[in-house]
Amino acid sequence: MTILVTGSAGFIGANFVLDWLAINDEPVISLDKLTYAGNLQNLASLESDERHTFVHGDIGDGDLVDRLLAEYRPRAVLNFAAESHVDRSIRGPEDFIQTNIVGTFRLLESVRAYWNSLPDADKSAFRFLHVSTDEVYGSLGSNDPAFKESNKYEPNSPYSASKAASDHLVRAYHHTYGLPVLTTNCSNNYGPYHFPEKLIPLVIHNALAGKPLPIYGDGQQIRDWLYVKDHCSAIRRVLDAGQLGETYNVGGWNEKANIDVVHTLCDILDQEKPKTDGRSYREQITFVKDRPGHDRRYAIDASRLERELGWKPAETFETGIRKTVRWYLDNQDWVANVTSGAYREWVGKQYA
Ligand code: NAD
Ligand code: DAU
Repeated sequence: MTILVTGSAGFIGANFVLDWLAINDEPVISLDKLTYAGNLQNLASLESDERHTFVHGDIGDGDLVDRLLAEYRPRAVLNFAAESHVDRSIRGPEDFIQTNIVGTFRLLESVRAYWNSLPDADKSAFRFLHVSTDEVYGSLGSNDPAFKESNKYEPNSPYSASKAASDHLVRAYHHTYGLPVLTTNCSNNYGPYHFPEKLIPLVIHNALAGKPLPIYGDGQQIRDWLYVKDHCSAIRRVLDAGQLGETYNVGGWNEKANIDVVHTLCDILDQEKPKTDGRSYREQITFVKDRPGHDRRYAIDASRLERELGWKPAETFETGIRKTVRWYLDNQDWVANVTSGAYREWVGKQYA
């Protein structure tokens, strides 16, 4: 038994692989293109672990994926690979179309051919799990109920539109070809190995570096935060027991306004790493130009996953965010590595 995990050197993929091998011995084949967001250092602790095989490559490379499937014969493929940053999708959508739509399509084609070649028992046990986002549902008003699986898709950014397209392809491969698929739509994750272009790690990094903490617009946009390891446990649960062709919303009932998240981070840093001049990190907060088309509110109704599959998050926002700040304080070498080179160019352009 083996699983193939794509996007395994990114934030959530790496957490998933590390957790998977920490709790069971089923080998993992990792496939990652190592874009700016992919970092082999995230998987460094598995370097001499025989249960883990890393392959550098693109989900859209059909020949490579065909070879991997034929050689390792996985019982499941979990697709985390994507371009994932909304702001980058606004500045340059092309890569998002290539990986999230065309790449997912090519991966599905390879998986379909492989699945068709399997003996009956393996064929019925096989799963393709597609990791997606709550952003496909669009934006909520302040009194709207949280997103349910039955909400219609209303993506608003090139990123969310490309993820929505990939979800539709996955759905179509089940409906048309019978491919045994599962889709998860999760809210905002945070935790270890989160690339510091996203709000939480960016704020921790900038705070410690004495730089401005950029808040888009009025800072009252709401996101629903989930500790990454809870997302990973939800994916494992859906892989084990999800109903084929179905989608599952994943979230932790943790709606927070951006400004409140940043205040919380500053307050934790004030306790854990007080500034030598005795001032608060809150003084570094700076309001900047808003993100174009900025979605106002996301909220996930994860009751289906709880009711049908018995999943619940282990962390509250308060426990998870403290662990996260602690991880960044304890892993400043990791931060220093990922914030050198190309990262500086991005920050220079985005916050000019
Ligand atoms: P990430 O940007 O940190 O990592 C993405 C990984 O995919 C990187 O390692 C990158 O090198 C790899 N990759 C990119 N293009 C590839 C390609 N063509 N072939 C192979 N590998 C490729 O993203 P993340 O935050 O870990 O997100 C993982 C998945 O979860 C994405 O599909 C994303 O849409 C989804 N998601 C993310 C969040 C979140 O809050 N971060 C929430 C819900 C869903
Ligand atoms: O909802 C799930 C999604 O969450 C995932 O699908 C995406 O892959 C992931 O990147 C994340 O998207 P967001 O756009 O919500 O995350 P980000 O961390 O970029 O921004 C969170 C909020 O903070 C958002 O309202 C924009 C705001 N923000 C972000 C940055 C980077 C700021 O105010 N200032 C910033 O500098």
